[in-house]
Amino acid sequence: MTNFNISKIREDFPILGQQVNKKPLVYFDNGATTQKPVQVIEAEREFYLKQNSNIHRGVHYLSQMATNSYENARETIRQFIGARSNTEIIFTKGTTDSINLVAFSFGERFVNQGDEVIVTEMEHHANIVPWQLLCERKHATLKVLPINDFGELCVEKLDDLISEKTRIVAVAHVSNVLGTVNPIAEIIAKAHARGVPVLIDGAQGIQHIKLNMRELDCDFYAFSGHKAYAPTGIGVLYAKEKYLEKMPPYQAGGDMVDVVSFAKTTYADLPFKFEAGTSNYVGAVAFAEAVKYMEVLGIQQIKEYENELLTYATNRLSRIEGLTIYGKARKKAATISFLLEGIHHFDTGMIIDKMGIATRTGTHCAQPLMQRLGIEGTVRASFAFYNTLDEIDRLYEAILKVKQLFG
Ligand code: ALA
Repeated sequence: MTNFNISKIREDFPILGQQVNKKPLVYFDNGATTQKPVQVIEAEREFYLKQNSNIHRGVHYLSQMATNSYENARETIRQFIGARSNTEIIFTKGTTDSINLVAFSFGERFVNQGDEVIVTEMEHHANIVPWQLLCERKHATLKVLPINDFGELCVEKLDDLISEKTRIVAVAHVSNVLGTVNPIAEIIAKAHARGVPVLIDGAQGIQHIKLNMRELDCDFYAFSGHKAYAPTGIGVLYAKEKYLEKMPPYQAGGDMVDVVSFAKTTYADLPFKFEAGTSNYVGAVAFAEAVKYMEVLGIQQIKEYENELLTYATNRLSRIEGLTIYGKARKKAATISFLLEGIHHFDTGMIIDKMGIATRTGTHCAQPLMQRLGIEGTVRASFAFYNTLDEIDRLYEAILKVKQLFG
């Protein structure tokens, strides 16, 4: 068992101490959004109480303070993901915003009629629809890398899928439904061998797996704050400078310009060229605090502990007759999707909610994956480092009750 002081950790997350439906809350919807520690909430509060002022715009004291905090947050995130330079860290609203930025801006510059974009069968809609829109705009073709019955990517098929027309490969680091941890290093190597850049949707990766952009060598990595213990409305796009320099701005307005005239406008240097308008600077500062929180626990420790939760939950749930787990990849993050035979996922989710247990039900914004699996949806339990084995026992008991109720 990992040497985590769970009760101490849980004190940092007061929301977990409450009762829901007159039962102690078990929060297993971390894949949708994680809870925030008091350190993060306090950082945001302190900022508003003492520092708030718009960034990059004032010579006055507060504006300088706010600007410094924002840029320090960028530096914290750069270090956290092992990026080469702060110019490669763009603050966005979240993963979806980051991917849309690339699909639009990279697409404008590098994708033309007849070109191809590759995504995978297990993608979240956020890593499908922006590329579909791009393909419609540019009369390009979207190609799909399939999965096998274990819920793993058929990586060996990538070589045939990539052609001289392929402009980018976009793939999830971790499936939000199946929990599969994809072999992104191998995918990046294969794509790069053919001169094709790779975007990684890291929405479900950043909070579970230690990253180093220099070693990984992906071209784009998109992630959100709110799934990694930070507030909503803040995210990051990591992107290699060599692409950012060539890509046109995504949105236009203040802060992203150098000189504006009616005849011609020139743009600010990186990363500001891609940060139009007043950004969520308070969110960025709070995100940096969340990163520091994870670093104190240690990402490797987090991963090991969450693996213990996953193994325990998989063993327990597998013993329930009539329960099918979707996603049996050899490498998984702490997410279990399941269905009970003959019982609709909404019914299961609603009944276990009555027992105080929060899971997610539905398609999880991955309808093409549901079509591949031949199901309408699943119940998903996704774990975080503040969850416990006892809570998994509660889930187990709750599922047995659901079965009893449905005879
Ligand atoms: N993308 C989020 C999830 O998987 C909302 O639940």
